[in-house]
Amino acid sequence: MADRSVDQGRGVGQGRSVDEGRGVRLGHEEVRDGGGDDVLVRVRGLQVHFGPRRRPVRAVDGVDLDVRRGETLGLVGESGCGKSTLGNAVLRLVEPTAGTVELDGTELTGLGRRELRAVRRRAVMVFQDPYASLDPRRSVGDSVAEPLVVHRLHGGPASRRARVEELLDLVGLPASAADRYPHEFSGGQRQRLGIARALAGEPDLVVADEAVASLDVSIQAQVMNLLRGLQRDLGLTLLFISHDLAAVRHVSDRVAVMYLGRVVEVGPAQQVVSDPQHPYTRALLAAVPRPDPVTERARTAPVLSGDVPSPTDVPSGCRFRTRCPSAFDACPTVDPALVDVGPGHTAACLLHTPHAPGLA
Ligand SMILES: Nc1ncnc2c1ncn2[C@@H]1O[C@H](COP(=O)(O)OP(=O)(O)O)[C@@H](O)[C@H]1O
Ligand code: SF4
Ligand SMILES: [Mg+2]
Repeated sequence: MADRSVDQGRGVGQGRSVDEGRGVRLGHEEVRDGGGDDVLVRVRGLQVHFGPRRRPVRAVDGVDLDVRRGETLGLVGESGCGKSTLGNAVLRLVEPTAGTVELDGTELTGLGRRELRAVRRRAVMVFQDPYASLDPRRSVGDSVAEPLVVHRLHGGPASRRARVEELLDLVGLPASAADRYPHEFSGGQRQRLGIARALAGEPDLVVADEAVASLDVSIQAQVMNLLRGLQRDLGLTLLFISHDLAAVRHVSDRVAVMYLGRVVEVGPAQQVVSDPQHPYTRALLAAVPRPDPVTERARTAPVLSGDVPSPTDVPSGCRFRTRCPSAFDACPTVDPALVDVGPGHTAACLLHTPHAPGLA
């Protein structure tokens, strides 16, 4: 198979066109429209600390977040701010230090092996590096079929093969790909294979952690559109994690902005991008390198300077204060909570909390 030929032949919007005229094929219920208040993932007071208890790395340090059923929630923030740790905690790949994560009403901490296995089928990860999920020594067909074997789905070899071919078709690859090996595919194609494998067990929730970060820019859009199309067509819930705000706003219904272990702003993607309410979000938007009228307003904000402080030494009060162009005298002493700043839109900044203790 010629490298990239499939990527280039299958263009933007591939994921949506796959299902046109054929209906939903992974056994999910009616396609949902990415809205609604039906919460699939509910995170409350989540802390994930690493290292010594006296001086831990506060990777996630008090996060409240809902992911609604059938939406794409983009999680964005600079490298090291705790996005992957939060994504891992949602799949219970790391243990929380405190707080709770509920998947469809079931609290994940304390689940036994059997229940955890069921969770592993319903909630899956698409990794940055598809090699992480594709064994280079196994045929693509065997790798894609592995979740079917693990979860005892599509019992016999013929049924499994049919399902693998269906999954390959879903991600825009020919059935013959099943008999090939991962090294025969381009980066974009391998990511398609990783997605096919992730979808094998008909998950409800897909966590895509920097899933396009290692791809060429031209291929990134195709894979993002594939993910977005699958999310819509199959009624999946997608937590799309990326350090790249341009990518996040491209695919997301809602956006959550993370800084140093906290979510500092959440809202409808269009709202967060066109009318950001947290100085950090404004600074992130100002750093997006492409000219775009929507972000022009944000460009009036100074570009973010300095590095993210160490998560072992989180600044007192508002943790963004050491880099915030709007910081004022209360910021070192008052830790702002998320407050309403618009319909379905919250931000954690004292400029929006005039009656917080310590503020005049
Ligand atoms: N297993 C671990 N042990 C110790 N520190 C970790 C571990 N995993 C992540 N960290 C630290 O936690 C912080 C957040 O990391 P991460 O969640 O990977 O951020 P992001 O995905 O936003 O780049 C970083 O300072 C990172 O070094
Ligand atoms: S609370 Fe203060 S330091 Fe924090 S973002 Fe708002 S203005 Fe900036
Ligand atoms: Mg990460």
